[in-house]
Amino acid sequence: MWSGRHVVVGVSGGIACYKSCYLVRRLVEAGARVDVVLTRNAAEFVRPITFEALSGRPVLSSLWEPGGALAHVRLGQEPDLLIIAPATANLLARVAHGMADDFLTAVLLARTIPALLAPAMNDAMYAASATQANIALLRDRGYAVVGPEIGPLAEGPSDHPGRMSEPDAILRHGLRILRARGPLAGKRVLITAGSTRESIDPVRVISNRSSGKMGFRLAEAAWLRGAEVVLVSGPSSEVSGPEISRRPVESVADLKREVAAQLPTADVLIMAAAPADFTVVAPEATKRPRQGGPITLVLEATEDVLASTRDLRKPGAFIVGFALETGDANAKARAKLERKGLDLIVANDALEPGAGFEVDTNHVTILDRSGIVGTFEGTKSEVAEGILDVVEARLGH
Ligand SMILES: Cc1cc2nc3c(=O)[nH]c(=O)nc-3n(C[C@H](O)[C@H](O)[C@H](O)COP(=O)(O)O)c2cc1C
Repeated sequence: MWSGRHVVVGVSGGIACYKSCYLVRRLVEAGARVDVVLTRNAAEFVRPITFEALSGRPVLSSLWEPGGALAHVRLGQEPDLLIIAPATANLLARVAHGMADDFLTAVLLARTIPALLAPAMNDAMYAASATQANIALLRDRGYAVVGPEIGPLAEGPSDHPGRMSEPDAILRHGLRILRARGPLAGKRVLITAGSTRESIDPVRVISNRSSGKMGFRLAEAAWLRGAEVVLVSGPSSEVSGPEISRRPVESVADLKREVAAQLPTADVLIMAAAPADFTVVAPEATKRPRQGGPITLVLEATEDVLASTRDLRKPGAFIVGFALETGDANAKARAKLERKGLDLIVANDALEPGAGFEVDTNHVTILDRSGIVGTFEGTKSEVAEGILDVVEARLGH
């Protein structure tokens, strides 16, 4: 996704400079062309030769070096993205006040391209009202900001923000700036994922094999497209990024409650969860002892989450369902789409190798009322991108 992109990494003089080496390395490995710009103080922490070796390109730091004439204007306008990491308190102050007294601040004053700041400093320096006012001003002027995080600082442990976001988080935010250009940007997307659990007794549950992988990949892909994502997830070992608002649920009743709470503000709902179809009529209050002979569990159908929350949908909301079937998946999915008033349904067959539950790959068919819209096969991340391409194409109309 970084391949062919031109990125300027501006580095100012904070202790987190050492992490910027890794940031540059990751960008280059991912196929980006990277120009590194150092402040004079940053070069006190990490020598330019390190960044030159990592980026494979000359490092820029002075307005007065040969070859640098007007490079500050070019670098503020021609690349795809500027990332400033770390952004020191001093750099933020200089940029907020329109100063252009070195190469990096001149690039930033001349900038017409998107820019992402990763502030990093002592927690008291960050909390200082001058720094807070500078960051607010810079946000107002169109800068994106990632972090800082709460975590250990070079000077010791801290319970307050100041530590620079990790390079991987900075890269995810950078990618989002580049990718959030379609109809999902700024939309509120509600995604459900994973299985549910229905209690038999305080120890045992009825569940299913859904891992949540498809829903989590959809949540990440939607966030990268600029959406604000709420992920309602049953028990799952999958990990979601900190920017995704995660609502853990257990039973179908919990899932319904959470979907009902979120649905009125959702522009898009993607129901990738696999809620249980049956629940136990009278779960026992204490652990049922082992006993010989057959035992009987009395089950009843769970509430249909999509049908029972239908009236709560925001007018014009776009609704995508999933149908995991065993055989004849497309026909069953079409019937479900009509029955539940969906805009699209994603059908897959649990019996097909490399698709469905507990695997990292999937093979899906997307249908609307008039029939098959497309088929996608690959990793669940690739399939998530395919599904969101269709959603964005529909939202764009
Ligand atoms: C060891 C050391 C670590 C520093 N770490 C930071 C830091 O993490 N964040 C920050 O804002 N300033 C930090 N400073 C102070 C900056 O280096 C100083 O404000 C400098 O003027 C920044 O210049 P620049 O923004 O032009 O790069 C540190 C200074 C020293 C000596």
